[in-house]
Amino acid sequence: MERKEFINALGLSTATLLLATCFGGCSKASVSNNGNTAQPPSSNSDFVLDLNLTENANLGINGGFVYKNGIIIARTTTGSYIAVAMACTHQGTAVVYDGSNNRFFCNNHGSSFSNTGVVNNGPALTNLKQYNTTVTGSMLRVYG
Ligand code: FES
Repeated sequence: MERKEFINALGLSTATLLLATCFGGCSKASVSNNGNTAQPPSSNSDFVLDLNLTENANLGINGGFVYKNGIIIARTTTGSYIAVAMACTHQGTAVVYDGSNNRFFCNNHGSSFSNTGVVNNGPALTNLKQYNTTVTGSMLRVYG
């Protein structure tokens, strides 16, 4: 390999490394999941969350999210509720909701998913299962 070819190859590798580092290291603290491994959705994927309970307080904040029964439930920046399976389809790390980009994100290796769970960027290849949400008063039903 010629020196120029080697440097060009190194430059591409460095750019790729920086991009990968940015996905993991440039994310906001609000999307940290501490590398937690998620649980698969339990057989109880039809449940109701009381939005008045302290444990669900994050759902009163645009961009906030909670985990329940293997599902991540998030409130978008426009105030609607969305839900998908919490386990990243790559290696099972719990995804987080990144409200500023309206996406689900895995801090482990940088996979990102749309707000409906569709893979935007790998290494994950499979979509997250999407769940339905409906609000009646202060009660949020999640089902799928
Ligand atoms: S476990 Fe999510 S990207 Fe690897």
